[in-house]
Amino acid sequence: MVKLTINGREITVEEGTTILHAARENNIYIPTLCENEAVAPYGACRLCLVEITTARGRERLVTSCIYLVEEGLTVRTDTERIGRIRRMLLELLLARCADSEVIHDLARQASVTRTRFTKQTGNNKCILCANCARTCEEVVGVAAISLARRGVDREMTTPFNEDFSEVCIGCGSCAYSCPTSAITLEDTDGTRVINWPHNQMEFKMKACSVCGKYWAPEKQVEYVARTSGTPLSDYDACPDCRE
Ligand code: SF4
Ligand code: FES
Repeated sequence: MVKLTINGREITVEEGTTILHAARENNIYIPTLCENEAVAPYGACRLCLVEITTARGRERLVTSCIYLVEEGLTVRTDTERIGRIRRMLLELLLARCADSEVIHDLARQASVTRTRFTKQTGNNKCILCANCARTCEEVVGVAAISLARRGVDREMTTPFNEDFSEVCIGCGSCAYSCPTSAITLEDTDGTRVINWPHNQMEFKMKACSVCGKYWAPEKQVEYVARTSGTPLSDYDACPDCRE
């Protein structure tokens, strides 16, 4: 176990815990946007910044979703300096993703009502955190999308910026892991439509042989059968009718 202090409170947590999780376990609020427990921390939004002083007296700013607790660490989550940096980060995010409700909510909480930065158009709500691509690769094992290009042209897209990612199975994990709802998913009349920040893809859904309900994209069912080594015919019926 590791002993540290957060905002003057002495706490004890398991070794290997991030500062963010140590704070959460002790009901201490630190704002986050890109943190997602399904994938390894990446530190894209930096809203979870905190000030630390190590046991040796070294002071620095760190992203709490990545930094692991240390014996004798002193953490401050809400200093004037952190408030100032967070407000600037939120202004940048507001300029980048003016349509994002989540970012507007976080900005309101920090009393940020406007941005001094030039608003960007056409990039939807994407903060380039790569949660979608990392979930696709690390959790699903597919790697159908990735970040491409540099600087202001950086975007989330399909390999080679093709209209259709051939390896995508349409599972929608990217949409579930997106913190700003920049990716949306809709199932209608046997078709799943996934809208990414810069393109859209459609997938045919499989109908249940018993009740007729469309229950999963055909490509996803084929992928599950292939990777689990089970016959495709095992998936003719939906999970409800299979029991
Ligand atoms: S689409 Fe969503 S999850 Fe993917 S990089 Fe953009 S904000 Fe992150
Ligand atoms: S939540 Fe830690 S960097 Fe985004």
